[in-house]
Amino acid sequence: MTVVPPADDSAQVAARVERRWATMSVIIVLVLATAAALIGLGHATMPQGRVEVVDAARLHLSGEFVESNLGSALETDGSVTVRAIGQQYSFTPQCVVVPSDTPITFRATSADVVHGLLIEGTNINIMLVPGYVSVLPIRFKAPGDHVMPCQEFCGIGHQGMWGKVKVVDKTAFLNMAAAKRRLTCVD
Ligand code: CUA
Repeated sequence: MTVVPPADDSAQVAARVERRWATMSVIIVLVLATAAALIGLGHATMPQGRVEVVDAARLHLSGEFVESNLGSALETDGSVTVRAIGQQYSFTPQCVVVPSDTPITFRATSADVVHGLLIEGTNINIMLVPGYVSVLPIRFKAPGDHVMPCQEFCGIGHQGMWGKVKVVDKTAFLNMAAAKRRLTCVD
């Protein structure tokens, strides 16, 4: 013989279970929102794990970004480091030459205000902030020319601030690098 609970009873059970799940879902949402808020606060208040600073007022006097050290440099491991400066209203070097199919590290900074460095046809889009070194790994698949406009409004001459990236064949680049310590395609 089976006992059939009265209809009232099962409705109460259903209501209780529903309330429990509703409470649980509210708790989950609260936990996630709290976690997101804490992580956001952490990011906003803590310094990044790795920040390179540089004295923007003395870039031309000494250190990594003196004019003679700008351009593309072949490293002993076969990779290439490009050092560049953005200033109102140009990039130095104005034309960057790099090899295709080679790991490249861009190291750039600004001598005055915030500039942007965008390389057309790639996903490269970084900000150059005075006082900080922007570092970005790049690899170009094939030779070709790319325009490199400043993409951050930096003053009256902003729209005229353009550079160029010339990607050349790897062998051609190695030949050029054998003759010169720092390479650019500025004549
Ligand atoms: Cu530099 Cu806009």
